[in-house]
Amino acid sequence: MKFVSLINGKIAKSKDASVVLNVFDYMQVIVLDVIVKTAFDIDVIDVSKGDKDETLLLLNKLMANNDASVTHFIYALPFVKHILNPLVNYVLPNGRKFDAFLRQTVERKIKEIKEQKVQSSQHSSSGESRRVSNEKVIDILVRKYLEGEITLDLIYANSLATLIAGYDTTSLASTYVLWAIAKHPGIQEKLRIDIQLHGTESEYLEMVLKENLRLFPVTANFLMRSPSEDIIVGGRYKILKHSIVTYNYADVHHNAEYWPDPMRFDPERFAPGKTYDKMTFVPFGAGHRVCIGYRLAIKELKLIVTHILRNYRLELVTPQQMERKVKSYFNSQPSESVKVRFCSLASQNGSPLKISSTV
Ligand code: HEM
Repeated sequence: MKFVSLINGKIAKSKDASVVLNVFDYMQVIVLDVIVKTAFDIDVIDVSKGDKDETLLLLNKLMANNDASVTHFIYALPFVKHILNPLVNYVLPNGRKFDAFLRQTVERKIKEIKEQKVQSSQHSSSGESRRVSNEKVIDILVRKYLEGEITLDLIYANSLATLIAGYDTTSLASTYVLWAIAKHPGIQEKLRIDIQLHGTESEYLEMVLKENLRLFPVTANFLMRSPSEDIIVGGRYKILKHSIVTYNYADVHHNAEYWPDPMRFDPERFAPGKTYDKMTFVPFGAGHRVCIGYRLAIKELKLIVTHILRNYRLELVTPQQMERKVKSYFNSQPSESVKVRFCSLASQNGSPLKISSTV
């Protein structure tokens, strides 16, 4: 993993084979690298630049200033384009830069897929099925555009939606889990041993990740539904048709009725054989509009934790207690920077632990 070489580079310059990192900054770089490849099939992030990467800086500005929501709105609702486009072009410089980036990427993809089509018509059908299994989000969207099913604006809207939905969420979830692992050395040791035996297939890793998503749900209230007719819930509450109902994750995930001693980080709650009401643990939502990226997010989290624990012992620097606040885009973030000391295991043991499998 590129991230490990980046940290190792920093550790090589240190006197005590360790380095203190602002975890969220680095998680953003890793996750952005994955999501840009997934959404756009391009390798733009130079991880060696860490949090100084230009695309990363641009995207961070887009998210922080809400430029992305305006840009997304324009792509998703082309009829407001004439009113809002000047805003993106002249008032939101990040929106303009991002628009240019997106257009170049899509143009390149259209050209590439057209060329592939010509080639595959000249070759056997087995080549075609190999291409489909490697398809990224952008490939699917461009193919649908070339087949006349969607417009260019819908390609932009969906690519940006994938980016927005997958970027902040997964970087925050990985920041929370690294904080929890650093905070609980006993859990960290048990997890490292299980990872040594089972790699990303570790059952204990699954338990730690679930407990992390329970205690620190990333989304604050991003589960909204609107009934198409009046309904009575639980025999008591009448919800009028077309009203908007949101689900407060923290209220349910931290409710002692469902989760005894709710603020304690205890992965054993999710040990095999333990049961819980499915609607009391919904970090990725539920039902028809459940998060489409949850498998990718879990794979990313597993890989990040596995690679880090294989190479480093984590010591918590700040904060000693996790306080969260709601940030833009419906997400919750630590109210203080999460700083963790990464201590090289190679310098203690001679070589990093082996991972028995990867996802
Ligand atoms: C830890 C990481 C993540 C968390 C906690 C998370 C959480 C959520 C939640 C709670 C929802 C609302 C679901 C509902 O209304 O029932 C959602 C929707 C969505 N997520 Fe995620 N997500 C994560 C990662 C990702 C990734 C990596 C992607 C894309 C690659 C993604 C794409 C989406 C999309 C497109 C939607 C809207 C789905 C729809 O409305 O049909 N998410 N996510």
